[in-house]
Amino acid sequence: MNDTTSFDGLLLGAHLVTLDGADYGVIEDGALGWTDGVLTFVGPRASLPADAESLAGEVIETDGGWVTPALVDCHTHVVFAGDRAHEFELRLQGASYEEIARAGGGILSTVRAVRAASEDELHAESMPRAAALLRDGVATLEIKSGYGLDFDNERKMLRVARRIGETLGITVRTTFLGAHALPPEFSGRADDYIDAVIDWLPRLHAEGLVDAVDAFCEGIGFTPAQTRRVFETARALDLPVKLHADQLSDLGGAALAAEFGGLSADHVEYTNDDAVRAMAESGTVAVLLPGAFHCLRETKLPPLAAFRAHGVPMAVATDCNPGTAPVLSLREAMSLACTHFRLTPEEALRGATEHAARALGLHDRGVLRVGLRADLALWNIRRPAELCYWLGGDLSRGVWSAGERR
Ligand code: NIG
Ligand code: FE
Repeated sequence: MNDTTSFDGLLLGAHLVTLDGADYGVIEDGALGWTDGVLTFVGPRASLPADAESLAGEVIETDGGWVTPALVDCHTHVVFAGDRAHEFELRLQGASYEEIARAGGGILSTVRAVRAASEDELHAESMPRAAALLRDGVATLEIKSGYGLDFDNERKMLRVARRIGETLGITVRTTFLGAHALPPEFSGRADDYIDAVIDWLPRLHAEGLVDAVDAFCEGIGFTPAQTRRVFETARALDLPVKLHADQLSDLGGAALAAEFGGLSADHVEYTNDDAVRAMAESGTVAVLLPGAFHCLRETKLPPLAAFRAHGVPMAVATDCNPGTAPVLSLREAMSLACTHFRLTPEEALRGATEHAARALGLHDRGVLRVGLRADLALWNIRRPAELCYWLGGDLSRGVWSAGERR
């Protein structure tokens, strides 16, 4: 299982949650070695070759703690300007998310703020949020567009997303979400707007700005027929799709994502059993977003038993956005997934690592295994369940992306 040449980095003194096997894949008093950013040793310290320490480029002696795969936040909208704290107050007074959206607030109020911001301003506003996610364990971050809703502003958002990855030295995966809401200049002309989205996508892709394609399939978003047109364009470009599906009603979104071999269907509160079967067949991950569920005081639970029964992998993400989920910690989302959705802490951790990586189409991370990336998070905890047990706090002692400390 291990390749015992010399290591660029060697981490010693911690217990390992490898997730490679049952019961967290725990290895007590473990050692991790890597070369060129890839793990080349994962095992008990006692089975390291005798000369490993003297040959290693850097030895990190943690003196306790636990190491997990670095967290993967597979659904975020962290690039935005402004905030929607006022809508939070309105909702507390009884207004619904849909009412606020239909009155021109909601996503469109963030669109106004994003359009008014320069690329540098947008980067400066978004960076602290991405940095907060990194500080709490995240080394792979998906970031969606969807608050620009015209070519230049969608492009601006995607460029900022790429720049955040470069600034922080972590992996950022971009998702084009042009079909997020109908901008005012297309009012009453949703099909024409979809024509425009379909025109922008290849151009943005040609600039290397798009890793996947998403849409908001909902009464206050786009119809399944409109979503299908976006997906057909993605398919023609060989881009994977994901979908904001069945969050507020069952429009068959998850089934549509599955039909296109989607990486994931996200939210999925109203997803029906037939769609769950279709997801199982297509290998589509169910991305649970308990932060949005919590903040909107939703009561309709996703079909968790059906996901388990059919073997649909469940991921957990923050959905970090200014409207439904101002969530700046993926651990917080894991905790909410346990409390609201009754995930076990192990399911929540696998959901924020292994299954989240799969929801992004990444097969080189999410588990600590020789041959996979040295993406690590070191935690100041006594047992793995603490990652979901504490709400807030400062548990992370370090994050490594491809063996580099971030
Ligand atoms: O994932 N549902 C649509 N999109 C976001 C919310 C975006 C917003 O309200 O700004 C979500 O919940
Ligand atoms: Fe979202």
